[in-house]
Formats: sequence, structure tokens, C-alpha cells
Amino acid sequence: MRKETKKTVEVLHTELVFPGDTNHYGTIFGGKILAMMDMTGALAAMQFCNEEAVTASFESVDFKKPLKEGDILEVRAKVIFTSNKSMVVKIDVYRIGKFHSRKDYGCGGYATFVAVDSNGEPRTIPQLKVTTKEEKRLWEIGKQIKQKATERASSSK
Ligand SMILES: CC(C)(COP(=O)(O)OP(=O)(O)OC[C@H]1O[C@@H](n2cnc3c(N)ncnc32)[C@H](O)[C@@H]1OP(=O)(O)O)[C@@H](O)C(=O)NCCC(=O)NCCS
Repeated sequence: MRKETKKTVEVLHTELVFPGDTNHYGTIFGGKILAMMDMTGALAAMQFCNEEAVTASFESVDFKKPLKEGDILEVRAKVIFTSNKSMVVKIDVYRIGKFHSRKDYGCGGYATFVAVDSNGEPRTIPQLKVTTKEEKRLWEIGKQIKQKATERASSSK
């Protein structure tokens, strides 16, 4: 395990929902949101470890609010847990106001990313520095997610 530790940095991605991203009710495709979450999560992971990273697993995502054509979506992602070669990233999606400061929670989830070299082989990463109460709380959540994902992955081999 690498000894180097560092703080997490939150990555933000903002996007306007276009007609091509919606179904016939005018609400956004779930798959489009998942793609945005995956991409923003990967960027948070890569920025943290300074390596390429691939998505190893995604936890379930519950869509809490209908997100519609013309909405502005903000995706926020940050590394909350690290292990030897992998990172758990918390990813949340909000609808933000066009003409006001209101922000509504749309959905959120967790994904595990693994740092890889140019041959796709896993690489060791710096470890996350957790100091605040909130960071420690998120670390515990991430630890459970990592454990669940590892168990699932080994039972499906
Ligand atoms: C993810 C991947 C690199 C892991 O490779 P591997 O040879 O199985 O890796 P290892 O067994 O050496 O494990 C390396 C790390 O990955 C973690 N890992 C592997 N599969 C995992 C999974 N499904 N979920 C969570 N973590 C996983 C291991 O727990 C280990 O973490 P740790 O060292 O931090 O404890 C490989 O399975 C892969 O390339 N998968 C495809 C990724 C992909 O194409 N994603 C979609 C597009 S980006």
C-alpha cells in the first residue's frame, strides 16, 4: 500500500437537458444520468489518483425526482474511500435553478473505480486523508460499499 495520503477534491459537471436526452414524457433517460454519473465519478477518481481509472462496479441508484428537458443538472463526485488500488466515489445529481439559487436533489449513488496502467493492470494509489467527522462518516459508508462490491465480484466469477 502506498504511504502517500491526500485530501479528496470534488469534481463538478453541469449540463442542460436537451430534447434528445428525454423520453416521450419529457423526462430524462435514466441511462443518460448514469452515464453522466459514471463520467464525473471517473474524473474524480482519476484526479485523485493521478492515473487512468476504470469503473469496476456501480451500486444501485434511486431516482428521487423527475428531471426534465430544459433542467440544468449538476453532478458532484468525490472519492470517499480508498483501498490499495481502488476508490469508492460518491456521486450526486442535483437540479439547479436557472434563475434562482434553489437546488433539488435528483439522485445519487456510489461507484468503485480501479486505477490502471496502460495495459489495464491495476495500480496502487495514494490513500485518502480523512480528518473531519463528515469525512470519517463517508469513509465508513465507502468501506461497506467496497466490501459488498468485492463479495459480489468474487461470488459472480
Ligand atoms: C476492474 C479491473 C481493472 C480489476 O482487475 P482485476 O485483475 O480483477 O483486479 P484485482 O483482482 O487485482 O483487484 C484490483 C482492485 O480492484 C478491486 N476490484 C476488482 N473488481 C472489483 C469490482 N467488481 N468491484 C469493486 N472492486 C473491484 C479489487 O478489490 C482490488 O481493490 P484493492 O486493491 O483496492 O483492494 C478489471 O476487472 C477490469 O478491467 N474490468 C473492466 C473495467 C471496465 O471496462 N469498466 C467499464 C468501462 S471503464
